[in-house]
Amino acid sequence: MYQFKRSTDLKKHLDLVRKSNKSIGFVPTMGALHNGHLSLIQAAKEKTDVVVCSIFVNPTQFNDPKDFEKYPITVEDDIKKLNSVSTDILFLPSVEEMYPEGLESDLHYDFGNLETILEGKFRPGHFQGVGRIVHKLLDIVQPNQLFMGQKDLQQCLIVRRLLAITHSPVKLVVCPTEREKDGLAMSSRNARLSPAARKKAPAIYQALLEIKNNFGKGLHFLEGAHEAFDALKKQGFEPEYVDILQLDDDMLHPLDQPPGNATVVVALAAWLDGVRLIDNLILQGNL
Ligand code: PAF
Repeated sequence: MYQFKRSTDLKKHLDLVRKSNKSIGFVPTMGALHNGHLSLIQAAKEKTDVVVCSIFVNPTQFNDPKDFEKYPITVEDDIKKLNSVSTDILFLPSVEEMYPEGLESDLHYDFGNLETILEGKFRPGHFQGVGRIVHKLLDIVQPNQLFMGQKDLQQCLIVRRLLAITHSPVKLVVCPTEREKDGLAMSSRNARLSPAARKKAPAIYQALLEIKNNFGKGLHFLEGAHEAFDALKKQGFEPEYVDILQLDDDMLHPLDQPPGNATVVVALAAWLDGVRLIDNLILQGNL
């Protein structure tokens, strides 16, 4: 696996890749890699000739400085995992490399209501930071296809909008959420759960499944979201939201009437033992 720390070196290498008519797949990450990330690399390997993975813990997307400080850094281990799935290139830039202009910026992307609901509501500024870094990474890598996981559904929609705003030709491929055997969505944050909390955490997936099972049986599934919120609270979670939304023109809107044929999703965020967990399921349609 080639490793680059400087964007100029990576760009030079990728120019040669493009000259040899090979397609480039890109998987951006913040490291602490797990099988969810590796499944994105595998999807990229199936669809493109040369796969680039980036590891960069992006300071501008952390609205909570404590979350940034606690974010797991496991680069040695990550490199072994990337080698195990034959990743072609790792981009491992520093903060100075990615933000020579400094972390403060007046740049603002218009993400519409995607920025004020769900994660946007509870993590102000988060998606501006995601937009800023993904825009920079795409300018450097210029991939043909970009691979992201459905677990971060709202992030996928933000990136889809970023691609539209910036008139980017890059194709976004959204890959299914990888789950542990007990249903817990794979996440770098799971490593921070205590053994007791880890045992409890799959209740999140169970709550989503119950809402999915009631979908299509009248509007009871909407009440199901409130019930799931209360049930998680009783089990010791601190839920932030359990919301059912409809996808229209790549925007998410709260669902308050029968959705017709529109894509419908349920999304959830809850704290458990000081760790913030998110998950979602598609109730109808596709992304
Ligand atoms: O999902 C992540 O790991 C990050 O938000 C991303 C897309 C790499 C941007 O920093």
